[in-house]
Order: sequence, then C-alpha cells, then structure tokens
Amino acid sequence: MKGQVIKDGVTWVGAIDWERRLFDELIPLPDGTTYNAYLVRGSDKTVLIDTVDPLFTEALTSHLEANGVTRVDYIVSNHAEQDHSGSLPMLLARFPEAKILTTPKGKGMLQDLLEIADERFQPVADGARVELGGRTLRFIHFPFVHWPETMVTYLEEDRILFSCDLFGSHYAVGNLMGTSFQAFEPETKRYYAEIMMPFRTLIAKSMPKVAALPLELIAPSHGPLITDPAAVLRVHADWLSDLPHNKAVLAFVSMHDSTRHMARYLAEALVDRGVDVEVFGLASADLGKLAMAMVDAATIVLGTPVVAAGAHPLVAYAASIANMLKPKARFAAIIGSQGWGGKPVEQLLGLIPNLKVEALPPVLARGLPRAGDFAALDQLADTIAAKHATLN
Ligand code: FEO
Repeated sequence: MKGQVIKDGVTWVGAIDWERRLFDELIPLPDGTTYNAYLVRGSDKTVLIDTVDPLFTEALTSHLEANGVTRVDYIVSNHAEQDHSGSLPMLLARFPEAKILTTPKGKGMLQDLLEIADERFQPVADGARVELGGRTLRFIHFPFVHWPETMVTYLEEDRILFSCDLFGSHYAVGNLMGTSFQAFEPETKRYYAEIMMPFRTLIAKSMPKVAALPLELIAPSHGPLITDPAAVLRVHADWLSDLPHNKAVLAFVSMHDSTRHMARYLAEALVDRGVDVEVFGLASADLGKLAMAMVDAATIVLGTPVVAAGAHPLVAYAASIANMLKPKARFAAIIGSQGWGGKPVEQLLGLIPNLKVEALPPVLARGLPRAGDFAALDQLADTIAAKHATLN
C-alpha cells in the first residue's frame, strides 16, 4: 500500500484509526480519526511532514517502503504532541541522516517527551525556507494550534498548507482527497470546539498569516484534506470571532423531573422570543456536541438539582468543561430545584472564572416549580432575548 497520492511528489503516508473512540482520555471520537503524515519529494531532498501515533508506526513505515523511500533528509515536526511525533524515535533510527525541522520551542518539547539527541534537530525560524529542489517549504510559527510550540508548513510551489492540528477533524474516512468539506464540516466544528476553542484569541492573532497565503489545498494532520480552503477559513473566521450568535445552550440534570420541567419551559420560552436554543440532558449527552453548541452561543444556562447541598456533580463537570474550553459566551444563568438548601449558584459560578460572562438572575424552585417559578423563567427568557438583541 503506497498511501494516497495527492499530486506528483506529494503523498499521504499516514494511518487511519477507524476504532479510536476517545482522545486524551476525555474527548469523544464518534467517527474515529486519522494521523496524517506526508511525503514530499523535491529533486534534491525528501521530506516527511509529521509522523503518526506510535501505535501506527508500522503503517507509516510500510507506506514509505512501498514508495521506495530509502533516505529521508528532513522530518518536519509541526507539533510535538505524540499523535504526530510519537513515531519520531523509530524513524530517526531508520533514517540516520534525517534532521528534524521544528520551532525552537518544539525542539525542547520533543526532547522532553521523546529524549531525542540535540544533533538531530535543525530548528527553524518563523518565515524560514528550506529548498528541496524545485519545491520550497516555508515554516510559519503559529503558537497554540494546539500547544505553544506549534507551527504550520507551506509548500510554496504547490500552494499546499500542512496545518497539523489546525483545521483538522477527527473523522476516519477512506478517501482523504475525495470528501467535500461540506460533508465533514460538523466534525471540523467538533474538533475546533474540543481542541482549538480554549486558544481562540491567540489563534485569531496568527490567522492573518495563513489567510494571506495562496491556497489550493489544506492538508491537516487529522481527517480529510480540504480542497476548498476558502470554506474552512470562512467558518473559522466566524468561530474565532468575538461575536456570538443569538443562541443559548441549556445543559441540565434532573433527578425527579423538577429541573427538567424548568429546562423545557425555559427552552420554549426562548424559542418564543426568537432565541435559538440547544438543550442537553447531561446524564446522557455527548460532551462533544455540548462543546460544539458552545462555539457560538451567547448564553450558557446550567440547570441543576441540589445534591448534598451542592450542584449535581454532572453539572459541576459540565461547568468545568466550559471553563476549560473558554467559549465566547457573554451571559450565564443557573436554574434548578432545591429541596432543603445549598448554594448551587455560587458553586457553579465559582467553577467558570475563565468565562467572561455576566451572571443573569438565577431561578431556583423549592421542590416542584410553581407559577412563580415559571414567571421567573419567563423573565429570564425576556432578559436573555433583550441581551442578545444588543450583541455586536
Ligand atoms: Fe493531534 Fe495536538 O495533536
């Protein structure tokens, strides 16, 4: 198996992981993933761009063998995380002449993670070029896509951007060149939500460096290649912007239905007022979909019963996830039902210090929600709609 030919001299030689269902022991991968590595051949030099997860080293080396590769001059390491770098030690042993091209910070991180000798590195400055013979690689430092050491690599003559995690998708598919972006845009949004959103403002600062490039193809390190670069840049411009949509995310747990009644009532009240809403019952929700909904929501509502004087642990977990992902939401509210006491509002708001949100008045019923509680939910819906009307 030779991998997949992108064009003459540029070949995908990575691995498809159809079965993986969890990344970082946290992130759901309902559609598996791929670890994309690329073989680029100039008339003088042969380059491997990124490697694969160490569990798939054999797939990568067999692709290289099938392509007749007996010498690799450079291995580009756009990102030190092990799903892209983990095969480096084996490849360096196999190709003793190969130098690693990476950022200075990437060198340090690769040495920390993989104990690679100093002399195997050739760090590259932002904007540096390496000639391959008829082909030129340009390295663009792009921190925090997804760790601080990251860069992307541009193949100038072919107008291909090797973007590593940036613009990726956890989406296992056989034909990596033949899938239209529209078909996997939801997986790209999921990937952005789970991996990139925490670094949104930092990524936005570097994005002009990439948006200015003439692009025919984006070759990320996860998921299908992107043959419509303008489309992926367009959706990222929206996701990365500070402006949320007229949308609320309502995530709740209900033990005895009181909070469920309140969540459903508030959801309908919001729709009545023209506010889009996505509702997640946290006992069974896909946290990836919750993350996706938070990409552009203006308001996050958490619904909780009181358990042992505090918020339900699943709601506290969702709040912690939101705090880690740092979505652009401007407003937050807590609703729910309490029996004999507790301080769930203070607890949950204390779990989201990273969110720059205005806390709206909470609505807490004592036991079953009654007329007064539903009136308070109507008022909360009014407030959310009014706040969203001022978004700019
Ligand atoms: Fe695909 Fe941040 O590694």
